[in-house]
Amino acid sequence: MEKQQSKRETWNSGLGFILAAAGSAVGLGNIWRFPYITGEHGGGAFVLIYLICVALIGLPVMLCEISLGRHTRRNPVGAFKQLNPPACNMAMLFGLGMIFCGVLMLIMRSFGWGLLFTLIGILVTKYRWTVVGVMGVVAGFVILSFYAVVAGWTVGYIGKALTGKLAFNTMESASASFVAFISNPFLSIACLFVFMALCIAIVCKGVQAGIERISKLLMPLLFLLLILLILRGLTLPGAMAGVRYYLRPDFRVISGESILVAVGLAFFSLSLGMGAMITYGSYVSKEQNLFTSTMAIVGLDVLVAFLAGLAVFPAVFALGFAPDSGAGLAFMALPTVFNQMPFGMLWAFLFFLLLMVAALTSGISLLEVVTAYWVDERGWKRRDATLVFGGCIFLLGTLCAVSVQNWDSIRPVQFFLQALFARIQPSFFDTMETASDWMLALGGLLTALFVGWVWGIRLAVDEIRHGSHNFADVHLWSALAGLKDDPSHNSEVHVYTLASVWGVFVRFVCPVAVVIAFLYTIGWLDMGEDASPEPAPEPAAELAQP
Ligand code: TRP
Repeated sequence: MEKQQSKRETWNSGLGFILAAAGSAVGLGNIWRFPYITGEHGGGAFVLIYLICVALIGLPVMLCEISLGRHTRRNPVGAFKQLNPPACNMAMLFGLGMIFCGVLMLIMRSFGWGLLFTLIGILVTKYRWTVVGVMGVVAGFVILSFYAVVAGWTVGYIGKALTGKLAFNTMESASASFVAFISNPFLSIACLFVFMALCIAIVCKGVQAGIERISKLLMPLLFLLLILLILRGLTLPGAMAGVRYYLRPDFRVISGESILVAVGLAFFSLSLGMGAMITYGSYVSKEQNLFTSTMAIVGLDVLVAFLAGLAVFPAVFALGFAPDSGAGLAFMALPTVFNQMPFGMLWAFLFFLLLMVAALTSGISLLEVVTAYWVDERGWKRRDATLVFGGCIFLLGTLCAVSVQNWDSIRPVQFFLQALFARIQPSFFDTMETASDWMLALGGLLTALFVGWVWGIRLAVDEIRHGSHNFADVHLWSALAGLKDDPSHNSEVHVYTLASVWGVFVRFVCPVAVVIAFLYTIGWLDMGEDASPEPAPEPAAELAQP
């Protein structure tokens, strides 16, 4: 235990932490996943729901995770273990409830879910909250397995840009080329291998020196490039239809499922729900202002996602493509736009390079959680842990990579999952993606419950107060009014402070919101006549003739 404590470093500077955490948050989730999911769920209305999820759920939970990390100075499993109460009614109730549901499901012959629920229930009654940390480590595996596949595509596209193979004039040719690329198992596995090797090499060495410096340099560049892309995209004829689609909410196309997807995406994009921010928070110094850091990280993340959407949708519409064409959206639309700019290949090369860097800073945070657990808690050597588990993730990733188009290449896995879960996703890749949405939402819910009800807001606020006395000791209203330094406007009896608002959110608003999202998704909360899954308003109608 002592060796852990003495090894803990802190970030070089406050900015260093913010950039590292933002590096983890900003990644494929913003530039690849956010636009295509928005496209699949009808545009503007989904963007609005996403923003609400970030503000109401993401922000408070991020503050939970970072303060948990700084307080315990541990990896997620260690953090929950350290604060785990010797007996906890809530955990007991939760565990027994899960066992009960699991047995019910077994009786109803839903074997996969039944076994899963029963198993988790037993673990929860035995280990209580530590299970949340363990779930985070498992989520690290699941997420990185499909994340690395997409990151591999960026590697492949860097190669394509270098060899001038991205000169598409229409979205059709871009899409044909993309499909050919991802359906070639050798190519995508080779690219996956390159990406995982990079992740492993960096995490092996420790994260701080190299990647932090690189991302400090390259992130602003990514930003600039996005702006450039937006300008080009917006000036294409017919682009305004895309802007309208992206920014004008149409709530008729929102279904219950969209809401859990938005919650899942908010957690995913902010790197929440699996302890990545606990791990990063554990390196934060006591002087750091956790509240303003959280705001900065969330702000940067949302900004990049928003800009990415603004780069993608106008282009998609201008080029006459359907916004709901799925996971390849950014890979098809953007190269086609680059091709309409002078020095197209150079821009394409730069863009995919930076996208890969963004993916890398996120990928290492995922691998770091897995590694930190085995190093801290199991006493493995850092090198062995990264190699072994990075290798496992690579193997899981190959399954995702070959199943992207359909299941048929890995029939045995398909049969196995079908036998257990009856309703399955279109591919193993989608299975992992959906599983991660659920795990992150569940992880986030449990983290909020833990901080709000078990560790306690009082102790959490004591932690946050270091470095940020405004958070707990200044009336929110006086702070907003510019009177925060006036003693008569701040009292020892805190009524309405940032801290109290946060506490209410963590204890009530976040858990209730996530639970509602869950109930919506499994269909227990169908509000009257369900929004029939009407297809997204077809873009063709509004398109100007090119
Ligand atoms: N947030 C990253 C992205 O948007 C992905 C990511 C990194 C992540 N670490 C995570 C997601 C931890 C969930 C949990 O691309």
